[in-house]
Amino acid sequence: MKLNIAVLPGDGIGPEVTDQAVKALKAIASEFNHSFTFKKADVGAIAIDKYNNPLPDETLELCKTSDAILFGSIGHPKYDNDPSAKIRPEQGLLKLRKELGLFANIRPVKAYETLLDKSPLKEHIIKGTDISIYRELTGGIYFGDKHLSENGNVASDLCLYSREEIERITHLAFQAAQNRKGKVTLVDKANVLESSRLWRKVVGEIAQQYQDVELDFLFVDNAAMQMILNPKQFDVILTENMFGDIISDEASVIGGSIGLLASASVGETYAMFEPIHGSYPQATGKGIANPIASILSAAMLLEHFELFLEAQLINKAVEKSLKLGISTPDINDNHDNVTTSKVGEFIEDFINNPNDSNMNFTNIHLGQSTII
Ligand code: IPM
Ligand code: MN
Repeated sequence: MKLNIAVLPGDGIGPEVTDQAVKALKAIASEFNHSFTFKKADVGAIAIDKYNNPLPDETLELCKTSDAILFGSIGHPKYDNDPSAKIRPEQGLLKLRKELGLFANIRPVKAYETLLDKSPLKEHIIKGTDISIYRELTGGIYFGDKHLSENGNVASDLCLYSREEIERITHLAFQAAQNRKGKVTLVDKANVLESSRLWRKVVGEIAQQYQDVELDFLFVDNAAMQMILNPKQFDVILTENMFGDIISDEASVIGGSIGLLASASVGETYAMFEPIHGSYPQATGKGIANPIASILSAAMLLEHFELFLEAQLINKAVEKSLKLGISTPDINDNHDNVTTSKVGEFIEDFINNPNDSNMNFTNIHLGQSTII
């Protein structure tokens, strides 16, 4: 298969983790005889520095003419600490999602067997957790009218949803549940918000078309608690934009590190793949950022194009690296300095030698693969 992939590394640790995902994709291309091309473009704070625009036209154009987008991360502390900044890196990402119509953000959350002891939560609570979060991505409070009064003392953000916006992601969530454990949990705040009551109504109606899927409702405050108390009760979580943002960061604690959580953002025409973590500015250039979320996002990219064996191989490589402790410090207490790029090299090596059962895996992570 031929794929033109736009690579938007962004800010902070974005470039270093995205490099590892590209390594994995290149290895897959050579192993399976695909032809993947990669073109880079700026987005976020780096694009503001260069062009005074967090999403330059050329970047948007590249995305629109590519088959898929691999996104790193955006954000910079100089904007976080300046509430009056008119131009912000995040605007680049939000505009990209909106312009490309990426209305569904899918975030898988899994408790890896080999990492059960890395989570601050108890093993018996998280063991076996396997959740797919369907977060609406182009509506709600993120995109409603924003207002700041003349005197700067009163502000508002409108949370707006239309039936159509709810319907399209709801169908995707139910279809996903049909191929999983057959349960959808709608997370909302229908006891308070009118927009949530619309979600309940529309989702309840659509559920009639999916008799094989069980539908459950949870208020978001309760859902936040249930996520920690008993995450295994969830299969597919369906929710609006901001609740999905918050609940997915919370859910990342189950896997032991936010550095493991990948995501796919899809719409009618375009698809973008991005880790859920931010730009982690303190770690920039230190080689300590976990590239797994970005690498798993690349696996989701492959799945999107129905390259299932290829995606599976990346997932297998990731599991092997976790099992062998070839991991960055967020999930590795051995102080053995496995850097971001070492993890990437291991994954690459594994993909290039998938059938070699005699591989000396303990040497391979040093980038000096030894076949014995
Ligand atoms: C995410 C991020 C973004 C969001 C930020 C960077 C705008 O937190 O992808 O979860 O809030 O959607
Ligand atoms: Mn977030």
